[in-house]
Amino acid sequence: GAPVLADISALQEGQRLVMEWRGQPIWIVKRSKAILDALHGLDGRLKDPASENKDQQPDYVLKQNPEFRAIKAEVSVLVGLCTHLGCSPEMVAEIRPEPFDPEWKGGYFCPCHKSRFDMSGRVFDGVPAPINLLVPPHHYQDDSTIIIG
Ligand code: FES
Repeated sequence: GAPVLADISALQEGQRLVMEWRGQPIWIVKRSKAILDALHGLDGRLKDPASENKDQQPDYVLKQNPEFRAIKAEVSVLVGLCTHLGCSPEMVAEIRPEPFDPEWKGGYFCPCHKSRFDMSGRVFDGVPAPINLLVPPHHYQDDSTIIIG
């Protein structure tokens, strides 16, 4: 499939833009400082905190800070499909009450079999999603335009 252009100039903090690339939903999420801060200190609860499994993302998104899994920390680009059986996770950008674990600072929740991911798409507690949400190949054409693919 051809690359897809995403205009992120109007994207506000906490908002998600949904695109389609190769028949898959692509999420572009603008992360606030609070969202980025909540990524720290989760390592003990994550299946692959440094995203060492190379199938999960292009190498270049780990260069600056593996925790962010992004070229620019404030903009997360993910394939919006659960890595378990492909359901569509919900974005939960806030701490939620029971049955959610208070240590989970929000992120993505898959309603099919209850996998949870943080706001970088990293698997929280490891069950049942086997790997982190995928980051598609992408780059910036300019500050407000991302080319997916
Ligand atoms: Fe998401 Fe099973 S498809 S947890």
